[in-house]
Amino acid sequence: KHKLTIPKFKQIKKENNKITMVTAYDYPSAILAEEAGVDMILVGDSLGNVVLGYDSTLPVTIDDMVYHTRSVIRGAQHTFVVADMPFMTYHGSIDQTLRHVARLMQEGQAHAVKMEGGTEICLAVDACVKAGVPVLGHIGLTPQSVHQLGGYRIQGKETEDAKRLLEDAKALERAGAFAVVLELVTEEVAAYISEQISIPTIGIGAGRGVDGQVLVFHDVVKYASPYRDKKFVKTYADIGAQIREGISQYVQEVKGGVFPGPEHVFTAEDTVVESLYG
Ligand code: KIV
Ligand code: NA
Repeated sequence: KHKLTIPKFKQIKKENNKITMVTAYDYPSAILAEEAGVDMILVGDSLGNVVLGYDSTLPVTIDDMVYHTRSVIRGAQHTFVVADMPFMTYHGSIDQTLRHVARLMQEGQAHAVKMEGGTEICLAVDACVKAGVPVLGHIGLTPQSVHQLGGYRIQGKETEDAKRLLEDAKALERAGAFAVVLELVTEEVAAYISEQISIPTIGIGAGRGVDGQVLVFHDVVKYASPYRDKKFVKTYADIGAQIREGISQYVQEVKGGVFPGPEHVFTAEDTVVESLYG
């Protein structure tokens, strides 16, 4: 299997196929996402919520993103991987922005970066694209602006709001973004934006009229996710329950003297132990 490329993404939209994307944050989640056959992996700064336990994405640092992106790349060597630019790493000078991008691409080994915002970040987007870095836009509910937005609300409900979203999507297209994420946007507005731009739209809580979908790994499989009861999420497995059950059985068996059993014990006949971690 070969990595999807930027030219192929545009082709997918022309052919009316859907792009599939899921987040991953580490080596095992990346292996599983790749084996499941997603088109793209997003190392989202949602890692702040789902793997680091913060209550927003704001505390996530560029160091966090580099570390997690690199471990995702090790697990998913044949999948296109996009890394989120964290809070405040693309709002200073173009020079500062490009340094942060360089860290995600060189140390993190990402194939592309994602930035939240519309018209106001287009200079940064343009500079990245000119430097050869593919950029995924992200508009609608942009969690890094949660305090300005006043909470995690549905976007595009008022006409003015919808118009601004369309302008932002068009501006990102002009700046050279290869696709744009629409988060928590009404289905009608998301579908309209998708018709009006040539680059693919990737929705999360943005309905059916978009060119692809992205969901958070931990939401899809119900892995102790703080977002698992959100309306826009569908859960396809309950691995949280399975993990809890497995560990609780282990605890019970150790307490009850059931584990280790005779089959787990070494005798003088055993010599070589293959260590996974050696
Ligand atoms: O961080 C993230 O997971 C995201 C997706 C929700 C688009 O930005
Ligand atoms: Na994000």
